[in-house]
Amino acid sequence: MKRPAIVSLLACGLLLALAGTAQAVGNPEAGKQKNAMCIGCHGIEGYRTSYPTVYHVPRLGGQHAEYLVKALQAYKTGARNHPSMKGIAASLSQQDMEDLAAYYAGAGK
Ligand code: HEC
Repeated sequence: MKRPAIVSLLACGLLLALAGTAQAVGNPEAGKQKNAMCIGCHGIEGYRTSYPTVYHVPRLGGQHAEYLVKALQAYKTGARNHPSMKGIAASLSQQDMEDLAAYYAGAGK
């Protein structure tokens, strides 16, 4: 995996998160910046499915933010055991999860 692009993407999201709000809750704008590595599988771009998936990937848009954060934490700790999501969640910080959850919770409305 090419690291630099992802690192700058995360840094960018972090800056937005810091600029956007002082709250410790998820920032949907920051989440939008961070979801580039999710849309390939979860397929939400402009609030719609971008292409047919070859295997079942759950729809994230519109789900409760707390549920999404819990799911990501579960993949990170191994309580949920899906190879692709485990690898991805392991690279996410708590703030990343909150931001992504805030973004997806607000998408698909
Ligand atoms: C390689 C493809 C892939 C990528 C990339 C990916 N996901 Fe997933 N994701 C999946 C699959 C497949 C599942 C269902 C796994 C299972 O059955 O436990 C899933 C499940 C989830 C769930 C649980 C949803 C539910 O309804 O329980 C969340 C939350 C989630 N992904 C968030 C993300 C986020 C946020 C990103 C980007 C940081 C991401 N995923 C990137 C394939 C992917």
